[in-house]
Amino acid sequence: GGRGVSRGARSHRGLNQTICMSTVTRNANIGKLAAGYLFPEIARRRNEHLEANPDAKIISLGIGDTTEPIPQPIVDGMVESAKGLGTLDGYGKYGGYGAEQGQGPLRDAIAERFYSHVDTSAADIFVSDGSKCDIGRIQMMFGSGHSVSVQDPSYPAYVDTSVIIGNTGLFNDDTSQFDDIQYMACTAGNGFFPDIDSAKKSDIVFFCSPNNPTGAAATREQLTKLVAKCKADGSILIYDAAYAIYIENPDCPKTIYEIPGADEVAIETCSFSKYAGFTGLRLGWTVVPENLTFSDGSKVKTDYNRIMSTCFNGASNVAQAAGMACCSDAGYKSMLDLVAYYKENALILKKCFEELGFEVHGGTDAPYVWVGFPGKNSWDVFAEILSGTSIVTTPGAGFGPAGEGFVRASAFGHRENILEAVDRLKDYFKK
Ligand code: MLT
Repeated sequence: GGRGVSRGARSHRGLNQTICMSTVTRNANIGKLAAGYLFPEIARRRNEHLEANPDAKIISLGIGDTTEPIPQPIVDGMVESAKGLGTLDGYGKYGGYGAEQGQGPLRDAIAERFYSHVDTSAADIFVSDGSKCDIGRIQMMFGSGHSVSVQDPSYPAYVDTSVIIGNTGLFNDDTSQFDDIQYMACTAGNGFFPDIDSAKKSDIVFFCSPNNPTGAAATREQLTKLVAKCKADGSILIYDAAYAIYIENPDCPKTIYEIPGADEVAIETCSFSKYAGFTGLRLGWTVVPENLTFSDGSKVKTDYNRIMSTCFNGASNVAQAAGMACCSDAGYKSMLDLVAYYKENALILKKCFEELGFEVHGGTDAPYVWVGFPGKNSWDVFAEILSGTSIVTTPGAGFGPAGEGFVRASAFGHRENILEAVDRLKDYFKK
């Protein structure tokens, strides 16, 4: 049928199926995004497999979505707060709109629990509904007209939000990259840390450690280099620490503010999603240090505060109560136990792929295992694993062209499913 008619013209559905179009032009930047967002696309292919094989018992090692219940001490804090909202006193205390920056006691608790060994103060912490949402708001704050660098491969939200805000050119089929954005290759050859010396200067640098998807955690020495580079170039570093609690290598900092001078260079974003199973509950935070400024000397924090108060009404008060419980001694301990469970899953998967003779990275400082299939197209490998084992992975190319030849296996899953996945993989690849 016809694609539509403009509103000026008469339109009628029916024989020709014409629909009435607005006269509003589409955001051309969104038009640059060729396919859908990575994870919905994977869900679509998973559903396709299920339609074709209705009896398939799918195991998802795809999107990093938590599977285990929120630990009891944290649930208790949340329940108490939810009940309180049904009382006059409780509602008076935490009902209604909260501060856009988050509840004062929670900001204090996050500062105390995660930043007591560095200078970061509670006043620089903005509580939110999660890191991905914060990345979108950070982009809105900067606006367009900036050059951007990302690690390649990297979490797709950095590139996609940069495209949407207008900081890139078109998608280039020859390079599989968007033009005008610097992809800093992170490969086995460079230990998954980009060649900083040869990188061009850019205004905004996204960096994730431990890295999603490669699982590589950057060392103190590497991050010192990164901060020095950003400082020399006058860049602002957006440091994604969403998986920091998974780090066990003592040479790898858990926050960028362990690096001297990072408070003049870096915004750090973090989240309870992968710490305590809050992927659905939603709670995270972003640190915007007092000392971080724009080129005119004005504080970045002032503008971020303006964005938060304009576009956000504060995280859910129940989620914030859960966050408070995460920071208590009992809550923190239960969170570490949960993380240890997923870390064990990661080791099981890592071992499985190693035994099958694959090149395997990550899995010790992060909940992701990065498995090499040299010379193969990662979407083909994804499809082969799905059709051969009914296991969903994530194709490396979905994270950027340097992810080609890899798939990512997520360690978030029930233990019995992880073990079943191992059996199926061994069955399939040993054949
Ligand atoms: C992932 O699978 O990379 C994560 O679940 C994505 C996210 O945290 O948004």
